[in-house]
Amino acid sequence: TWANVPAGPPDPILGLTVAFKADKDPRKISVGVGAYRDDHGKPYVLSSVKKAESLVASTNPDKEYLDITGLPEFNKNVALLAYGADCSPLKAGTIAVTQTLSGTGALRVGGAFMQRFFPTGKVIYLPSPSWGNHTPIFRDSGLEVRQYRYFDKKTAGLDFAGLKEDIQNAPAGAIVLLHACAHNPTGVDPTPAQWKEISDLVKEKKLFPFFDMAYQGFASGNTTKDAFAVRYFVEQGHQVALCQSFAKNMGLYGERVGAFSLVTADPEEKARVESQLKIIIRPMYSNPPLHGARIVNAILSDKGLYKEWESEIEVMANRIINMRDRLYDLLTSTHNTPGEWGHIKSQIGMFSFTGLTPSQTKALVEKAHIYMTADGRISMAGLNSGNIDYFAESVSKAVRG
Ligand code: LMR
Repeated sequence: TWANVPAGPPDPILGLTVAFKADKDPRKISVGVGAYRDDHGKPYVLSSVKKAESLVASTNPDKEYLDITGLPEFNKNVALLAYGADCSPLKAGTIAVTQTLSGTGALRVGGAFMQRFFPTGKVIYLPSPSWGNHTPIFRDSGLEVRQYRYFDKKTAGLDFAGLKEDIQNAPAGAIVLLHACAHNPTGVDPTPAQWKEISDLVKEKKLFPFFDMAYQGFASGNTTKDAFAVRYFVEQGHQVALCQSFAKNMGLYGERVGAFSLVTADPEEKARVESQLKIIIRPMYSNPPLHGARIVNAILSDKGLYKEWESEIEVMANRIINMRDRLYDLLTSTHNTPGEWGHIKSQIGMFSFTGLTPSQTKALVEKAHIYMTADGRISMAGLNSGNIDYFAESVSKAVRG
């Protein structure tokens, strides 16, 4: 029956984790998937998360089905976290929110909603480059995927002129995907002034802003600061779409907890949109899982836990910044590695877009047992005081060829 099913390639990101696990070399390092590790290279369960779990367990909760759109208190609190208490549509009750299976689920439900109801075309523009899963998600949602320029190889920074030109030339009514903060894979974000220009351009060209905010808190260590772009766009009257994930900022990778929301014109429109989100979700996975949503909600609705969570985000963000400084010093002062490495320090969030070529990354896997994506992205969180020397030495060797 399946004689004609061709073998597919491993996933460019998650496939690295599989290969890393199978590697027996003691020096092996995983800087592939974006998952936080502590300074011993171990997964980190946040203390606020452990306390939230105990709090949830102490209420002896049932295991009933959630609504199709998830836990109502969760939806209320995650919207508050993203949009802020001063957000007019939030106060007016015009934001439709649904719990989703993490950020990927939010993008997929959002993609399906756009495909079915977005009135002015089915074209979505992604930054070049973007997270590797964006293209398949939107393609499988039935949208046509195009790209706008984002990363400038020469400066290892934002190609703002190219971005503006491509957005300017997009057909009116197209959807534009924007990484709200801590752009994946480049670690390069627009400045607030540049966001303002992008907002004006999106408005002028009648484009639709679709935000992916998978790293709220991870760019600056502060959740309010990182929500700037989303909040600014909403203030400017854009009816944005927004995807949220709690994988990174709460370390809830395997709990699959996130949210998709749409700003609508009025409560009646919101009710119609919500009814259609339910019709999209029900045949996909019926309704979302309970546990992660309860944890997130417990943290967001308890002042003490919330404060503790915020300080834990800062700790994670700062450890990554320390690793950036250390890696930069090792590559430059210690090993005199050819090339310019300032971007290791100037890029933000979990990733550094190193500029290593596909053949160099391949050599690093094969010769040094160091796993990174072929585009040269490294997850800074995979580095620690125990492995960074070996990492820098190996990169330096790979660059020299
Ligand atoms: C990543 O880019 O490494 C993360 O977003 C994890 C994933 O699902 O790809």
